[in-house]
Amino acid sequence: MTLAELNEQISVCQDCELGRYRTKAVPGEGAEEAEIVFIGEAPGWHEDQQGRPFVGPAGQYLDQLLSLIGLGRKDVYISNVLKCRPPQNRDPLPNEMKACQRWLDQQLEVISPRMVVTLGRYSLARFLPGETIGKAHGTARRVGGIIYYVMYHPAAALHQQSLRKTIEEDMLKIPRLLAEAEEIAEESKPQQLTMF
Ligand code: URA
Repeated sequence: MTLAELNEQISVCQDCELGRYRTKAVPGEGAEEAEIVFIGEAPGWHEDQQGRPFVGPAGQYLDQLLSLIGLGRKDVYISNVLKCRPPQNRDPLPNEMKACQRWLDQQLEVISPRMVVTLGRYSLARFLPGETIGKAHGTARRVGGIIYYVMYHPAAALHQQSLRKTIEEDMLKIPRLLAEAEEIAEESKPQQLTMF
């Protein structure tokens, strides 16, 4: 299945109650062959109106953060744990996260990125349960060939000025981590080949 086909299915999903409240589902957007996928929490008001991820104030800040490392939206993929906006932007509920899980799983399968960047608590909990963001931000874990890198949510840095420096420093670590991930992938190629 292509990402476009998958996102078509997401846009008409009714697997949980949020499907009844949304204006538009927000599947995600960016490059199908992206090496990095950024994963936020859930669409907000602006995203729900436009059907596009991170297009409100938090999104504008995410764009700035990406530009710090010379990247733009077309170079990465941007998605969310939930594809539909929770009413009044309340926190995602466990049953909503469960119902929506398969969509993000399938997106990651199609894109097959080297690196997944979690933005905020819910995205962190989805991939690295039991970790706390205060401790884990700015650190990476390698699980099954994918690097999971933890960052604060850009909206948190907008609300709390003191987090700005932290989130920007964390963003600046990404290029080196990605280069390391590529080296590891290169090194493991001959090994894989000799196995077959
Ligand atoms: N916050 C998120 O987590 N995701 C969006 O798409 C927008 C704001």
